[in-house]
Amino acid sequence: MKLTRREFSKAGLGAAALAALGGSNALAGPDEMIRKAIPSSGELLPIIGLGTNRYGVGKSEAARAPLRQALERFHRLGGTVIDTAPMYRTSEFVLGDLIEELGIRGDLFLATKTDRTDGSAGTHAQINESLARLKTDTIDLMQVHNLLGWKDALPVLREWKQEGRIRYIGITTSRASQYEEFEKIMQQEKLDFVQLNYSLEQREAAERLLPLAADRGMAVMINRAFGGGRIFNKVGDQPLPEWARNFGCESWAQFLLKYAIGHPAATLSIPGMTKLHHVDDNFGAAHGRLPDAEERRRQEVFFDNL
Ligand SMILES: NC(=O)c1ccc[n+]([C@@H]2O[C@H](COP(=O)([O-])OP(=O)(O)OC[C@H]3O[C@@H](n4cnc5c(N)ncnc54)[C@H](OP(=O)(O)O)[C@@H]3O)[C@@H](O)[C@H]2O)c1
Repeated sequence: MKLTRREFSKAGLGAAALAALGGSNALAGPDEMIRKAIPSSGELLPIIGLGTNRYGVGKSEAARAPLRQALERFHRLGGTVIDTAPMYRTSEFVLGDLIEELGIRGDLFLATKTDRTDGSAGTHAQINESLARLKTDTIDLMQVHNLLGWKDALPVLREWKQEGRIRYIGITTSRASQYEEFEKIMQQEKLDFVQLNYSLEQREAAERLLPLAADRGMAVMINRAFGGGRIFNKVGDQPLPEWARNFGCESWAQFLLKYAIGHPAATLSIPGMTKLHHVDDNFGAAHGRLPDAEERRRQEVFFDNL
């Protein structure tokens, strides 16, 4: 992710920081944003991406305005990975417009999905529709949504990848009831990415899927690190434990995100965010450091006793 000098300033980094970083290049230095590598390529991604299942707001400018602001801030803070899907109503369509208006396509890593169950012709057609809606010639990551039609879809995704119009391929789930089938596919198919749910509240993925992803050299994109927002009800207005500041947490959102991405097999998380202040808060998790194994165990015990 490259930031121009102007973007550095807008992101709140002062002149001294800029001088220390030596100008307009990639983030570096003491406040560097944490990135992790995609195992199949070594490409580095910021550990906070953007989930957009609530971006399907249609054409209303009143509904789009806060999303444009959130997206602009996400980009300004160095975010690159955006996850969407045809299943998220008009989300791809809205994103295509907003990304074009902001002129930021070149800086982004766009991930979307297929879900057609009517064979390869349907999947080809759906990918073409996604490209048109997102106003792009290439998709960075194409995933089979919830394993829907995966047997027919994966060969199609590989064809597009060979042609250079899809850069990475993967599969997604957010339900433990799919883990058995998910695991079998991970064992038998060559995939760049898997996307799955993992949070302090739902830790089952750590039993088999996360270690398997590490063994198979697959990047892991984590969804629902906040349980769809439900976990905030559980933590309520209780204070953060003092020791969470040792690994840079200043909010519950950062506590939850750092736990999930702190798993050694995890590559990044894609919290759903439609509000500016949530983008600011969640990017705090991409700074400082991630908790180590002992600190993560302490987080689990603390959370379970809430
Ligand atoms: N099977 C699949 O492929 C699958 C399934 C589920 C999700 N996903 C992907 O994963 C993404 C994330 O999942 P999700 O959005 O369902 O769940 P989530 O990320 O666990 O939770 C999102 C909710 O948390 C709120 N939030 C975000 N940051 C916050 C903060 N700092 N403080 C307090 N609240 C905060 C959001 O509010 P605001 O919106 O108001 O900012 C939203 O209501 C989705 O958007 C989608 O891209 C994929």
